Amino acid sequence: MKIAIMGYGTIGSGVAAVLEKNRDSIARKTGEPVELKYVLDLREFPGDPIEKKLVHDVDVIMNDPEVGIVVETMGGVEPACTFVKKALSAGKSVTTSNKALVAKKGTELLALAKENHVSFLFEASVGGGIPIIRPLNQCLTADEIMEITGILNGTTNYILTKMDKEGESLETVLKDAQEKGYAEKDPTADIEGYDACRKIAILSSLAYGSQVDFEDIYTEGITKITSEDFKYARELGMSIKLLATSRRAGGRFCALVAPMLVGEDHPLYAVNGVFNGILVEGNMADKLMFYGRGAGSLPTASAVVSDVIEMAKNPGETLLTSWSSEKLPLADRGSWTGRYFVRMEGSREEKRVLLGEIFGDVSYVEIPGLKEFGFVTPVMTEAEYDQKAAQAGGVIHMLRIAR
Ligand code: HSE
Repeated sequence: MKIAIMGYGTIGSGVAAVLEKNRDSIARKTGEPVELKYVLDLREFPGDPIEKKLVHDVDVIMNDPEVGIVVETMGGVEPACTFVKKALSAGKSVTTSNKALVAKKGTELLALAKENHVSFLFEASVGGGIPIIRPLNQCLTADEIMEITGILNGTTNYILTKMDKEGESLETVLKDAQEKGYAEKDPTADIEGYDACRKIAILSSLAYGSQVDFEDIYTEGITKITSEDFKYARELGMSIKLLATSRRAGGRFCALVAPMLVGEDHPLYAVNGVFNGILVEGNMADKLMFYGRGAGSLPTASAVVSDVIEMAKNPGETLLTSWSSEKLPLADRGSWTGRYFVRMEGSREEKRVLLGEIFGDVSYVEIPGLKEFGFVTPVMTEAEYDQKAAQAGGVIHMLRIAR
């Protein structure tokens, strides 16, 4: 089996390294050696082991009938999409680590793969080295998936963990993360939640069988989280995590990405630093936890190569059940149900009667030295919360509480 890698960055070079390091065991599992024939990149890599395999023209790969599998690790929607379409149309199976591509074009590329009797796989696009796509697609097929909640972004989890443990501001921790290479120079996609949003859209589309458009998912990043929020969280015995979640609720589907308070007894509480965790709830299997490295060269490459092996073992087959192109309508943010932690201006004494009348039975939390107070509401929809919060006035910040 001869393969090509498109994009020799962090993940592409990791794929070449995994193929080389585990050459023998991969050949045993595949039933034949897997040989890297081409690497496509615009740059030169003098002295690199792949130097002689480097090509700058995608058509060299597309026109070579020996290449049966193409690995796409370029990132971004274009030109990755055009190249992947070319490969699938040329009868080559494709695996990608590119969540932007899968979230935007997944349905179309799955259909094109089917038409051409090849596969389009994307194990590495969500959760890096964590196996999550194959479990959803193959192992949990007897279940109706009720909920998926994940810490799907390592950068923001690193930042929030450090803010929690060291009491630092977001600005300071972000700078440190950038210096260590855990955050990009332009961190927008991570800290605004866009990356996690694409990943939960992919998982939800697979789990519920219809297209979930990431544009429909209400998304809040972590930019408004302060060290004061963490003081309250500690007082409540909780932490703050950026959660990406979708669930069935009364025959409808709800999805959102937002920083949430997570209690000590929640399975995602212990997922710290750059690690990712994904909690899946099936109506038969009940709760399942997937944990591991959500990014990084070798862990992500491991997931990519697992797709390569799977495709090499099943030539001429379309492996992944496509999700339907029918759009899954999502209920709006207002129908989200849960408890809310609210930081409010003023003092508990002066607001106690008013808040009791508006919110009912709330529990209070105060931090010495802060000229404000916090409280936790009973369970209600977000539409109800919005209306009550407007009526009460003086809200400084609201955080949802993970259930
Ligand atoms: N920036 C992403 C993360 C990379 O931190 O999870 C992996 O998708």
